[in-house]
Amino acid sequence: MMLAPASLAQPARGLAALARPRGILFGAAINTGRLADAAYARQMATEPQLLVPEWEGKWAALQPEEGRFDFAPLGAVLEFAARNAQQVRGHALIWHQAMPDWLAPALAAGPARARALLAAHLDAVLSRTAPAIRDWDVVNEAVANAGGPFTENTPAVGDLRDTPWLRALGPGYVDLAFQLARERDRTLRLTYNDYGVEGDTPFAEEKRQRVLRLLRRMVAARVPVDALGIQAHLIMDEPFRPEPFAAFLREVRGLGLAILLTELDLREAAVVPPDLAARDALVAARVEAVVGTALAEGCRTVLTWGLSDRDSWLATDKDVARKDGGIHRGLPLDAEGRRKPMWQALARVFETGATAPPR
Ligand code: XIL
Repeated sequence: MMLAPASLAQPARGLAALARPRGILFGAAINTGRLADAAYARQMATEPQLLVPEWEGKWAALQPEEGRFDFAPLGAVLEFAARNAQQVRGHALIWHQAMPDWLAPALAAGPARARALLAAHLDAVLSRTAPAIRDWDVVNEAVANAGGPFTENTPAVGDLRDTPWLRALGPGYVDLAFQLARERDRTLRLTYNDYGVEGDTPFAEEKRQRVLRLLRRMVAARVPVDALGIQAHLIMDEPFRPEPFAAFLREVRGLGLAILLTELDLREAAVVPPDLAARDALVAARVEAVVGTALAEGCRTVLTWGLSDRDSWLATDKDVARKDGGIHRGLPLDAEGRRKPMWQALARVFETGATAPPR
């Protein structure tokens, strides 16, 4: 009898394997720039069943010059996923960041030009990524913040953030993007994705109301939106209480929309306990409370934004990194790739947290 070569051995039981029997899909953001690191690649092959490109699906990556598409990085995500029998979701067809330099001036040439650019981008991207990608973040972060911890981008029209897309096409750009995506592929799940809706703060409550107003209007107007993606970039210094978040999720589900947690990670408090175990316990408890609430309200897809603290934007992006020179411990694996209490917390909620009927 021949033994299977080591490369065909089953991976260790990851979070996705624990989640799957409960009807929960666990995923993570992948950064193809890190795949040459064998430990990183192993983590990405082991824990998630679903991958989302951290940057490879954004305009700056896909269309660096007008009409010149570069599918190599996104293609690398699709190949990695195919090799590991994983699914891929898309992120993001419209976002006011990660725009190539040429795009904003081109959009400013007028609505006809802006619409043609959007249509051409969707033509190229959706045809290249079908049938692998079944779910896209069609519009990311269109709703403006109400001050609070984020000061950028006050509303321009209604609740919508001031962006080159809004300036070019008016507030109808959100509906237009969903309609054009649906026209190109009727089988896609089309998701509206945003952040800042989890906390028990006036800021989060206002953001929830703004997102709800947008979704209610879209559903009433029969705009083809299927799901709300909640980024869940959690902030420990913001209080959390399940009830306001749960009430929001019930409203969203009442509109007939699915709910996904799309970018889960956690920014620790400005001042953290000196003891690592105590620190990690705080992270785990908050994650368990938020994800547990979402699962209890019918969310069935949870993605973390990366897997290990070392590879996180929370370590490298100065707007969100720790100010004290340390690194946030807000992902399931520590900087050495070891599972930590946040991993155990996710494992626990995946095994026990799903009580509402799936969608
Ligand atoms: C972030 C990436 O993680 C960073 O590496 C990049 O520099 C900026 O974008 N919300 C989103 C994601 O929808 O696309 C962002 O990703 C994080 C915030």
